Amino acid sequence: MFKPGDVNLGDPDQLMAVGNPPHDYLAVLRREAPVHWNPAPDRPISGSMPLTKGFWVLSRHADVDMSSRNAEVFSSWLGGPVLYDNDPDVPPLSPYSLMGQRSGLMGKDHPEHSAYRKLVSVGFTPKSIGMLEPMIRSHAQRIIDRVRDANDGEFVSTVAAELPMVILCEMLGVPPGDWPQLFEWGNSIAAVKNPDIDGMQVAGEMMAYCHQLVTEKRERPDNSMLSNYANKDVDGERLSELDINMFFVTLSIAGHETTRNTTAHAIRLLSEYPDQRAVLMEDLAGRLPNAIEETLRFSPPVMQFRRTATKDIELHGVQIKRNDKVYLSYASANRDEDVFTDPDVFDILRPNASKHLSFGSGPHFCLGARLARLQLQVLLEELLTARPHVHVSGPVNTLRSIWFNAVTDMPVNYGLPEEVHQ
Ligand code: HEM
Repeated sequence: MFKPGDVNLGDPDQLMAVGNPPHDYLAVLRREAPVHWNPAPDRPISGSMPLTKGFWVLSRHADVDMSSRNAEVFSSWLGGPVLYDNDPDVPPLSPYSLMGQRSGLMGKDHPEHSAYRKLVSVGFTPKSIGMLEPMIRSHAQRIIDRVRDANDGEFVSTVAAELPMVILCEMLGVPPGDWPQLFEWGNSIAAVKNPDIDGMQVAGEMMAYCHQLVTEKRERPDNSMLSNYANKDVDGERLSELDINMFFVTLSIAGHETTRNTTAHAIRLLSEYPDQRAVLMEDLAGRLPNAIEETLRFSPPVMQFRRTATKDIELHGVQIKRNDKVYLSYASANRDEDVFTDPDVFDILRPNASKHLSFGSGPHFCLGARLARLQLQVLLEELLTARPHVHVSGPVNTLRSIWFNAVTDMPVNYGLPEEVHQ
């Protein structure tokens, strides 16, 4: 049985050792220390950005929700939304420097945030996203064609990874010849904690590419999102070049890794819980939307984001000081027994599954949530219709990360699982 303090949430190696996300430990925090001081790891963490200061962990659903909605006290701008500490070696315009974070949508507070969000939201309205469905379906079918006759294979690279990045390229208006490059950058940046990959350099290359593309869209406007951002005003306002570049990189991080991991988690969970697969397959189209919400609740692809206190406050009898870092645990909020009955049970018919906080809440609520849900619905529907028995057939490898709950590779078999044969 854990005690508060037994696991350092800033240490990816500890997380990998106890199970990532560490649900048993987070349950102890929710019960015994809902505002818990997590010190900085007491050793340098290889392959990770610096984490030199400790932080307060908010683990209850009500507190994560309240702090996400209360940007006046829990700022995204003051210290940025990323838990790592500002590193003087990081180039100022990298998405991981404080200046870089503040230049993006996630790192702003009202009123700058509201103004910026209004400008970029035009690409994400229900109408804009709804119109993408035929295009999403045709890419999903092309991807599923690869496995229509397959016996087995690696799931993340063959099925889960491609759709989010291709859809982003289509939406932004990236010429098809450049998609492989974008795809490679997206993969690299998602694994920014991997010591072999220089995520900062990749982000710089992406920003330079975006600059060139924006120049082309200004010379030859088209109907793409990037062309609209570069050429059209919203209520007399227009995005600056830096805003567009940062948004481009943000989307490549925010929209890629998250959606692909949810696809992988969905197949992993249906393999682990065959009873739930049976319930789903009785009415695939009807039950899939709630099954996706339950997958997001049970296995959130983003485990946390950060806020910084703008003033001294007291929460559950604990003093949080101005400038202290605050860690919002979506993984814990989603298992809060005050909101979800039997939270450790994976139940695709759970009536309030969509109360999860995997997309955050409040002003920074995920701008791409509708797009992510549509992609997941279409891809999983196509996959489970074509290959209803797809199941995990070997060890699942996950990313060593304090941030992303990511599946790096997952062997699957497309036939009936052995236990069903018996
Ligand atoms: C399952 C998939 C996804 C998950 C779990 C997810 C998760 C999140 C979370 C937790 C936030 C809130 C950050 C905060 O409060 O600081 C967020 C914000 C955001 N997400 Fe997503 N996301 C997903 C897919 C996408 C997609 C597909 C896109 C776009 C293509 C996207 C774009 C964004 C953007 C632009 C923001 C910033 C919103 C703001 O600061 O106003 N996300 N996402």
